[in-house]
This record gives sequence, structure tokens and C-alpha cells, in this order.
Amino acid sequence: MTFFAYRDGILHADGVDLREIARQVGTPFYCYSSAALKERYQAFHEAFAGVPHLLCFAMKTNSNQAVLTTLARLGAGMDVVSGGEIMRARAAGVPGSRIVFSGVGKTRDEMALALREDILCFNIESAPELEALSEVAASMGLEARISVRVNPDVDALTHAKISTGTHANKFGIPLGDAPRVYARAAALPGIAITGVDMHIGSQIVDLAPFEEACARLKGLVEVLTSQGHRLSHIDVGGGLGVRYRADDPEPPSPQAYAAAILKHLGGLGLKLMFEHGRLIAANAGILVAEVIYVKHGAGKTFVIVDAAMNDLIRPTLYEAWHEILPVVQPAPAAPRLPVDVVGPVCESGDYLAEDRAMPPLQAGDLVSVFSAGAYGAVQAGTYNTRPLVPEVMVDGSRWAVVRARPTLQTMIDADIVPPWLREG
Ligand code: LLP
Repeated sequence: MTFFAYRDGILHADGVDLREIARQVGTPFYCYSSAALKERYQAFHEAFAGVPHLLCFAMKTNSNQAVLTTLARLGAGMDVVSGGEIMRARAAGVPGSRIVFSGVGKTRDEMALALREDILCFNIESAPELEALSEVAASMGLEARISVRVNPDVDALTHAKISTGTHANKFGIPLGDAPRVYARAAALPGIAITGVDMHIGSQIVDLAPFEEACARLKGLVEVLTSQGHRLSHIDVGGGLGVRYRADDPEPPSPQAYAAAILKHLGGLGLKLMFEHGRLIAANAGILVAEVIYVKHGAGKTFVIVDAAMNDLIRPTLYEAWHEILPVVQPAPAAPRLPVDVVGPVCESGDYLAEDRAMPPLQAGDLVSVFSAGAYGAVQAGTYNTRPLVPEVMVDGSRWAVVRARPTLQTMIDADIVPPWLREG
């Protein structure tokens, strides 16, 4: 089901005409569909209905409070990677008992914050992190529930910058070292072992890497159990991919994914936890921009829009392909000619699409960049003193700004000129 579709020739988000939002909010803006978020969450939840499970939304993908609150109300947990994300999750009404804390560089302050919030689990990424957590928890007279993130060393067959499960990257502890780290954890004060954890990468559209990793994780669970550790959960991480282009094959459904996971981990009697982000949010959001100029270069046409790499960095950083469609539906017979859709930022890497077959566009036209609900607004910056893009949420026929566009003056006033430069 798509929640961004043409109605009478005009692109709508749920029941709302995107031109209306553009008129009131200005461009560019991110727009999220509440119905899409809910549908994706429920589809995943239902796929695992038969077994105890918890989906902790990887809020690094989209941490807008309106998005988090929507998911929290459905019972979602949150996978956080910083103290800031813990605060955001709590502010959205997520109890500590539904928060897991991932990340290779947790500071002692962040650990203390997480302990005060009594979070469900710390996913430990290294031996020194385990020692630090023990010290912090013991000094507070508290116990930290932990799982160790193991690196199953499988190739997730995804883009190099988003692959995490092989020995060549910084994440997790090698599978073979895990029993030693668990033995150490069992001996440390302030530490309670509750699970095992992995995350092998992102935008994975093939079930084979998940299956291989789950088989290895199952082997580890058996070893740890035989060594006397009492586990209550397995955290399988996130990473299930979504469709970015209409002509790509449909990625595995939540049902197919559930079957693959349960084949290996279903019979262990342990609660299953997940950290999917993209799966829930990517196709629940778009970025709407306006064409500023159409420039005919030597043998190339550039459609210059008012959204840029600072607003959506995925094309530049990962060669990511995002569908771009005009908000006013072009005539079916309109020619499709290759153009580069670029932003105003002064970098040749600033593009949203290269050599893309597009219908004729002119200044003032609105375009929608699809699949921008995950790793879009959260990865935005203010390069070239461009204000962060506002975010809007649509729910049926109503909509609201869920993060306003900062004024330029606010941005400038955030800097502080030192006293010695203020005089004269
Ligand atoms: N858990 C951990 C420990 C992670 O590192 C990640 C993503 C996730 C869960 C969520 O993965 P997902 O279900 O969303 O695939 N910025 C890149 C993706 C970076 C992924 C980082 N880790 C992009 O725009 O494609």
C-alpha cells in the first residue's frame, strides 16, 4: 500500500494535497504519513504474533517526537545510540523497560543516564565498555542488564558504508571471543546478563545473510547456556531493506523474514527483540522541494531544486536512488528526458538524482523525493547556512508541522562572538 499517491492528478500524503502544505509551510519540507508508520509497525508486529517479541524502533532513522510518539503508542520500544536518544525516547512516553542501548562509544555519563532510566538492556560492544559499565553501575548501587553484541562475520551484501556484520568493521565482538566476554560479565559487579545481540547491516534485501547469522547466533546461545548463563532474549538487530525503486524486486515481507528468523531461533524459548528502523520509516516519508531553475548545460540538463545534500545526504553518501516525481502528475505521453536533479549547495556532489529520466519541469514546480522517512531529516545539516528542513506529519485529512523551520536569525544568534572581537 502506498500512502503517497496521485489523486485527481495531484500528489497527496494520505488525504492531504501536498501543494497546500507547500503553500503554508514553504519548501523544502519533509512529510510523514502517520498511517504508513502504523501500517509498517503493525505488519511487523503481526508477523511475530505467535512468539514473545519486542520491536525496538531504531530511532536513529527518524527521531522526530511525533514519529516516536506515534510508534510508542502502538507499544514499540526504542533502540537508542546516545544519551540524547534516551531523552527523546522518554519524552515520547517510551518507558525505560522498552529501551535498548546500542553503540560502540557509550560514555559513562550516558551509562549513568540509562541506568537511572532503568533501561531494558545495554548492548555491549567491547570488553572495555563492559568494564566501564560495571564500574558505573556498581558505583550507583544498580545492576545493568546486558547482552553482548556479537559479530557473526556474515556479509550482508549491502553498501559498504552500511554493512556492519563482518570482521572488517568496528561493531561487536567476534563470535569466538563471546564466551570469554560472557564469563567476564558474569563475574563483574553491577552486571546482569540477559541476552545476546547482533546487527549485521542495513538495507538487506536477501534473507540468506539473516539466516546464516541466526544459525551462528543459535550456536552461541547453546554454548552460553551450557556454560550456565541464563538468557532471556535474543536481539536480532535491524536491517531489513525496503524498496526504493518501483522496478526493484519487492524485498522480503515481514512474514517471510519472520519465517526465516523463527526457523533458527523460534524453538529456543527466548524472547526475540528487533531493532528495525528503515523498514518502519523509510517509505513513510517524503521530501518535497520546488524547482528554482532549469539549466541547460553542454549536453546536460540540470533541474535545480531548493532541497540539497545537506537536507538529504543519501544520494551523495551512498549513491542511493530515490524516486522523484512531480507533485502535479505529468501527462502519460509527456516525454521523459535524462536530467540531473541538483540542489543549490556549492559542491558538485550535491545532487538528488543523476541522469534521471524526468518529465518536463519548470521553475515553480513541486517535486517529491520518495523513501525519505528514514535517514533523511536526522542526517540533515546546515551547510551553506541552510536552515534545517521543517517536518510535517499527516494523519488522514489533518496535518501539522512537527518541527518548524528555524529562522536564519536563530541560526546566526547560536554563534557567540568572543568579547575581544565585540569592540571596535
Ligand atoms: N541497530 C543498530 C545497532 C544499527 O547500527 C542500525 C543501523 C540499526 C539497528 C537500524 O538499521 P535499519 O533497520 O534501519 O536498517 N544512514 C544509512 C544507514 C546506516 C545504518 C546504521 N545502523 C542510510 O541512510 O542508508
